[in-house]
Amino acid sequence: MKETQQIKSMFDRIVRRYDFLNHLLSFGQDFFWRKKMAEQAINDSTPIVLDLATGTGDSATALLKSGARVVGVDISFEMLRAGNKKIKKNIKNAIFSPIVASGYKLPFRNECFDAVTCAFGIRNMHDTESAMKEIYRVMKKGGKIVILEFSLPEGFFRNLYLLYLKKIVPFIASFFSVRSAYEYLGSSIDGFYKPHEFIKLLENCGFSNIKTISLSFGCVYIYVGKKN
Ligand SMILES: C[S@@+](CC[C@H](N)C(=O)[O-])C[C@H]1O[C@@H](n2cnc3c(N)ncnc32)[C@H](O)[C@@H]1O
Repeated sequence: MKETQQIKSMFDRIVRRYDFLNHLLSFGQDFFWRKKMAEQAINDSTPIVLDLATGTGDSATALLKSGARVVGVDISFEMLRAGNKKIKKNIKNAIFSPIVASGYKLPFRNECFDAVTCAFGIRNMHDTESAMKEIYRVMKKGGKIVILEFSLPEGFFRNLYLLYLKKIVPFIASFFSVRSAYEYLGSSIDGFYKPHEFIKLLENCGFSNIKTISLSFGCVYIYVGKKN
């Protein structure tokens, strides 16, 4: 898919300043968001978790610190390489397996993961339904899906946040990285499913017991679901 190739090369190009800009533009809240995601994903001692779109490893790090064994999948080799290096350096005895693959075609047999997480990745998979069905396929029965993704807050704060996302974020990012990648960030958040639409999609893909957790005034959502 041409679109997937473009996204891959965009992430390959922004890897160097990716972490720095994440922490800067989220005012350091991104650590807290991923920690919350890991708390939702892990409920037994050492589950095997697929962290889809694992990128530079910050989502995998949160999972590893909570006691999971993690398979990290990403389409961008450069992001994955940076993530693997960081995890090896920072977490002693981490059980982390990085694999370059696409979320649309995961190289795993059916029902092999206790949980599947995806932090800020599903928005980049434009055929979201196919990606969700692929996640469903590789999850064990009784397994959990935990998606962490940006959203747009409602009410007064919405317009202020849109201004921040669409004007201020690309402006700040242009000093350190590729401006167009951070313009894409704002437009992809604006174009992504609203929480109630995403819940419907999860249900349509077979997930049940869905709950949502709104963080940072609705700028970020955690979606949790189960495969029965
Ligand atoms: C915004 S980053 C998130 C990285 C990490 N999970 C985090 O919390 O920082 C999104 C990641 O999704 C990956 N990605 C985009 N499309 C993908 C696809 N179709 N399959 C697998 N990974 C994909 C990108 O390469 C990128 O590393």
